[in-house]
Amino acid sequence: MNIKQEWKERGFIDEPIDEQMDLKGEIKRLCREKDAIILAHYYTVGEIQEIAHFVGDSLALARKAAETEARVMVMCGVHFMAETCKLLSPDKTVLCPDLTAGCSLADSCGADDLRQFKADHPGYQVISYVNTTAAVKALTDCVVTSGNAKRVVDSFPADAKLIFGPDYNLGNYINSVTGRQMLLWNGGCHVHEKFSVAEIARLRRLHPDAIVMAHLECKAPVLALADVKGSTADMLRYAAEHPEQRQYIVATEAGILHELERTCPEATFIPVPPEVTEGGPACSCNECEYMKKNTLRKIYLTLKYGWPTVEIDPAIARDAVKPIERMLKL
Ligand code: 13P
Ligand code: SF4
Repeated sequence: MNIKQEWKERGFIDEPIDEQMDLKGEIKRLCREKDAIILAHYYTVGEIQEIAHFVGDSLALARKAAETEARVMVMCGVHFMAETCKLLSPDKTVLCPDLTAGCSLADSCGADDLRQFKADHPGYQVISYVNTTAAVKALTDCVVTSGNAKRVVDSFPADAKLIFGPDYNLGNYINSVTGRQMLLWNGGCHVHEKFSVAEIARLRRLHPDAIVMAHLECKAPVLALADVKGSTADMLRYAAEHPEQRQYIVATEAGILHELERTCPEATFIPVPPEVTEGGPACSCNECEYMKKNTLRKIYLTLKYGWPTVEIDPAIARDAVKPIERMLKL
């Protein structure tokens, strides 16, 4: 394999493909040939969710990565999710169709800053959201996802001194429901912090029977208006268990609508718009540009060339896997 320098610099393969090609068929063929499975997060575009072998939230994707027998995993999500796959299955090849698919939340917590924060707070244990780099996980006692954060925090003794990061909103919510006073990192997701409280109130007036669902990364005033608060999987579960409910106002990344509409075709899902800032775009949805870097073309090319792979410094990997395994055991 000879990967061009230009592609390495770009972080993904940029090669023209035959427009007539049956792209989905070719991806399936390459998966069979290379013993590969495609894992996709709910925020990727619908056509990727349709070809994926497994679609899930970050907790389900981590579990799947730990148990799969396939030799190769193509992680269609963002870079920290691919790192989690590699940490849990170090002997497997983990492909990430675009290495530049980052995460504003993971970026809000650098390993050096966390190391200093720990040094400034002796005696504290660190609970980190899965949306962190492997280097940050290596400084962490236990990882959480939005689907299990309360359960994990509850597993620590009531008098434990805890640092929670990097998502301030999630930590603030967990503090409020557990009565703890964890020290919170001041990080956030640029997508979830933007949902407009005024728009939720307006949509609620227009659709008085609608249920408001919000991801735990949303800020407190948005969560205060929500009937259902949780991870992406929690929202899907709620909708599936309430077939009588016909309207939802949804405050999370718009990619989730694909699975919500697929599993609950009778219901209507209305995405909450972001706050409109002066001169900013007026769109009716909130999209994570990193998740949207995954495309069918990039998946095809990553399978064809077996690149980009995710690699983690072994010294970091040794420490980073422990807090993930601790979470999975819980
Ligand atoms: P989930 O834990 O619900 O999958 O969310 C992951 C994420 O990146 C949310 O922005
Ligand atoms: Fe990160 Fe936010 Fe994108 Fe989730 S939606 S991957 S937290 S930037």
